[in-house]
Amino acid sequence: MPPEPANSEELVLGFLAEAGDEFVSGEAISDKLGLTRTAVWKHVESLRAQGYRIDAAPARGYRLSAIPDRLTALELRPLLNTHDLGQVLHHFEVISSTNDHARELAEEGAGHGEVVIAEAQTGGRGRRGRPWVSPPGKNAYFSVLLRPDLPPVRAPELTLLGSVAICDALRQANVPATIKWPNDLLVAERKIAGILTELASEPERVHWVVLGVGVNVNAAPSDFPEELRPVATSIFIERGSKAPRALFVAACLTALEGWLDRYEEEGFDPVRRAWRERSSTLGREVRVKAEGREVLGRAEDIDASGALLVRSGEGVERILSGDVVHLRTDG
Ligand code: BTN
Repeated sequence: MPPEPANSEELVLGFLAEAGDEFVSGEAISDKLGLTRTAVWKHVESLRAQGYRIDAAPARGYRLSAIPDRLTALELRPLLNTHDLGQVLHHFEVISSTNDHARELAEEGAGHGEVVIAEAQTGGRGRRGRPWVSPPGKNAYFSVLLRPDLPPVRAPELTLLGSVAICDALRQANVPATIKWPNDLLVAERKIAGILTELASEPERVHWVVLGVGVNVNAAPSDFPEELRPVATSIFIERGSKAPRALFVAACLTALEGWLDRYEEEGFDPVRRAWRERSSTLGREVRVKAEGREVLGRAEDIDASGALLVRSGEGVERILSGDVVHLRTDG
């Protein structure tokens, strides 16, 4: 699906969003966008009716002071600084799983960068078949369709890239996230976000990759089932203040695209370095359940393909996929 051109309402909103805290005159908006002053005023009224707070001051113009806490194209597109990611956006009030829908779209030929996003999921999925708690209007649940020119053996690199990007977006939001191998985002050992990567390929070539991202943005402890409360957290719980979800999702997509561009130009090495810097797994004693066995040892590094290298009594073990438990915090 080609990206839809922005309509004039989105353009007015984009103009106001770009001005940040500054007022912009109705005249400047109408000159810049080639609209009449009446058309600008009508768009401002329509945006207000949709929950945008737009201050108006005589002789100064308009200023955007609050956006609705929604994740539709109207909220997101003016905030997106991307060339591909999210330019086509499929928004749902409720969906079973954004990953399932993105997979269907991928099979129907949807393009690189299309994003499926939902306010709630009824069948949100995590790694290893676990459910992903997805209450309405609180968090971020989205799946990004990628069509990389890669052999399937290199696909795990994209998962690690995803975790670096989401870690960066969380840190920009003042949350000191780290990455537990391969792609769990933690704050002080509690999980704040996760990535579920799915793909279709032939032996030499990936057809598509779906990066499914779930971030606990504004969930309160009561939004998690009791058994998860000691091990889950959110931006809201960490900072004590809510985060505007649209801004946060836009930051995730921008960070993701920045890393994808770099990966295309420079390969996996910069991603691997960035992953190491953000990792809370390396240097730690870990227990890894992988492929029907359990490995105990010290996580030493990730190799050039993203596999975890654990030094155990048996020597260095190379783990391609599995569940890691951090055993000690003193390194
Ligand atoms: C994990 O187990 O850590 C991965 C969690 C991934 C959850 C996200 S939410 C959006 C997308 N849709 C899903 O059903 N899962 C992913």
